Amino acid sequence: MAQTIGIGMCGGIAAYKIADLVSKLKKHDFDVIVMMTEAAARFITPLTLQTLSGREVLTDLWTESREWKVQHVGVAEQLDLLVIAPATANFIAKMAHGLADDLLSTVVLANTAPVLVVPSMNTNMFENPAVQDNIQSLLRRGYHFMDPDSGLLACGVTGKGRLPEVDDILKHILALLKPRQDLAGRKILINAGSTCEDIDPVRFITNRSTGKMGYALARTAAARGAEVVLVSGPTHLEIPSGVEFISVRSARDMCAAMLQHQPGCDIIIGAAAVGDFRPATPAEQKIKKNEDGSGRITIDLAQNPDILKELGKKKEPGCIMIGFAAETENVLENALAKLAAKNLDLIVANDVSMEGAGFACDTNICTLISSRTDIRPMPLISKDDVAEAILNRAAELLL
Ligand code: PMT
Repeated sequence: MAQTIGIGMCGGIAAYKIADLVSKLKKHDFDVIVMMTEAAARFITPLTLQTLSGREVLTDLWTESREWKVQHVGVAEQLDLLVIAPATANFIAKMAHGLADDLLSTVVLANTAPVLVVPSMNTNMFENPAVQDNIQSLLRRGYHFMDPDSGLLACGVTGKGRLPEVDDILKHILALLKPRQDLAGRKILINAGSTCEDIDPVRFITNRSTGKMGYALARTAAARGAEVVLVSGPTHLEIPSGVEFISVRSARDMCAAMLQHQPGCDIIIGAAAVGDFRPATPAEQKIKKNEDGSGRITIDLAQNPDILKELGKKKEPGCIMIGFAAETENVLENALAKLAAKNLDLIVANDVSMEGAGFACDTNICTLISSRTDIRPMPLISKDDVAEAILNRAAELLL
């Protein structure tokens, strides 16, 4: 049965390009339901989209529908994907704040399918903190976004804000709807989360990693057909379905588990924030403090194994090894140094001091580096989309 894509159009000059997108989606045998805001209909007529989609175009919340008893609910239940393109600042704000005052915004709230938002607007509007906050809020809810292209805009400004090429939007839609099975037959070993190094039976040293980046990689790799082994420090995340899950606490436990599962791997990814040090001699009993507050404790720290380095010593021919570099300064140089020192094929550099990057958030800002001459920066996107990009690059390196 054909998959159904909802195309939600807002009032922007780029609306005319969506006619081409609808036409291309029909050629890919998708069922396409077009919904337009009142402003969108000022840029292109519903009749044009009705002709191309072969279906009634929905514009009004109050029109009696011949197809659905309650129109906005009926439409939402049918969707396999909802695409908002072009997405205006106003409509992004409505989605971020749960407003439902017209047909399209009501369908958005009733929808449970994945959502892809394709903003198009003046550069200053797109970069306005209010718009960026609304985008962040939707990214945290798992909405997918395409970054606008840069170039000459209809308003005469040159900068970021152009609707991406229709073929790029189509590629993104296909990737969301029909996850490729390009990693079928591949074994991928990933570590994620923090490690815990005991000080005494009660206290331990850890770090800010939540595991979201590593879990996104495991989830995405499994969706693309890979056999995934996920070695995870303590997190509060749901275990991704379809992966072999191994729970560990300390860096040494994590190292042992990774070495145990290394044989036969095609790709190994070190996404975990591995503690570099541990208390050399953890106390057997809970350390007591002085009641008068005069107590001081000195903890002698021993160095933990460098897991990627240990794996690198036993790297099998053809295996692609990927690490992350969590930096706060000199990101590029520090990442290149780790790429060499750990004998990696790819390092993913992220400046963990940047807003929307690194620990705990649902987004990241990464640069994929496979050599000093192959450096690929990416904008702020969801960790799921970062995972797709890393696995795409790993698949290229496997060839
Ligand atoms: O988990 P999240 O909350 O989503 O946060 C994501 C993240 C910030 C943890 C992730 O994007 C990230 O940057 N992970 C690597 C964190 C880290 O330890 O970076 P590092 O630069 O200190 O280490 C470099 C590489 O060596 C990493 O691949 C790390 O896994 C590995 N390493 C480090 C120390 C060690 N003893 N053994 C290792 O294998």
